[in-house]
Amino acid sequence: MGRLKGKVALITGGTSGIGEATVRLFVDEGAKVVFTGRAEEKGMSLDAELGSNAAFVRADVMHEAEIKASVDYTMATYGRLDCLFNNAGATTPGEIETLTQDEFDTAMRLLVGSVLFGMKYAVPVMKKQGGGSIISNSSVAALHGGMGPLLYSAAKAAVTQASKVAGMELGKYKIRVNTISPGGIATPIFYGGSTASAAMSDVDDASMMGKLQGGLAAKLPIGRSGVPDDIAYCALYLASDDSSFVTTQDLVIDGGLISGDPQVIPELIGEMFG
Ligand SMILES: NC(=O)c1ccc[n+]([C@@H]2O[C@H](COP(=O)([O-])OP(=O)(O)OC[C@H]3O[C@@H](n4cnc5c(N)ncnc54)[C@H](O)[C@@H]3O)[C@@H](O)[C@H]2O)c1
Repeated sequence: MGRLKGKVALITGGTSGIGEATVRLFVDEGAKVVFTGRAEEKGMSLDAELGSNAAFVRADVMHEAEIKASVDYTMATYGRLDCLFNNAGATTPGEIETLTQDEFDTAMRLLVGSVLFGMKYAVPVMKKQGGGSIISNSSVAALHGGMGPLLYSAAKAAVTQASKVAGMELGKYKIRVNTISPGGIATPIFYGGSTASAAMSDVDDASMMGKLQGGLAAKLPIGRSGVPDDIAYCALYLASDDSSFVTTQDLVIDGGLISGDPQVIPELIGEMFG
């Protein structure tokens, strides 16, 4: 308790999976948290549940203006910004021979634009404050073939590399920039978040989740499924002063997935979703 006392965080995609778990953990650890997303009803109900230390604001990370508005809202509500967690994302379709400009633009805006525009508006605030921590969710798909679709994997690799470059530039301002590469974390992204559409995301489906957790447990070297808290605790470390010497790093949290057989994820998706 209290590892984030006095800190203010902005978390994107905070109404489901890893984002929601991180919002809850950061509030428990003493932070004030603005969380964003497109699922307004879920966001407002979490906002009411968590009380005055958390505030939901609707924002679609496909739009620069909405990202700017969420940074402005954080400053207006809590007066500072110590941590930006660029978490929102979804898998994005697009095959080599049928790729469209639209699919390409969507994937890049959703997964790369969201991170870079988040930095664009958070950095001036953090510079003025004398430091901060920017965390972005990349993926094991950035590191290993077979972990995700074409555009998703390319975009996540861009997130990891852009974060390293940004971290090199921002170190002198005491702004740390790191990525987390999750793998095998049972969340709705596996069955509901495979489009950029708001209606398809944030779906809580207990039976699907049970099947997914069982399938991952059988396939991952660690012998259990990943859960959103596994990533939330990594984000807690990166947001806290415990990691004040850690920047430009990518922390892989995957239960051993990419050290083992890379085919387990496509196999599992094939078994579950045909
Ligand atoms: N679950 C995993 O194993 C895994 C693996 C690698 C990377 N990731 C990454 O972790 C992050 C969180 O994913 P998750 O697993 O918690 O999935 P999730 O589907 O539970 O959560 C993703 C959240 O992002 C939101 N979102 C999607 N598009 C958005 C947009 N345009 N604007 C605002 N919000 C939007 C969704 O509505 C949802 O709330 C993503 O960036 C994902 O790529 C997850």
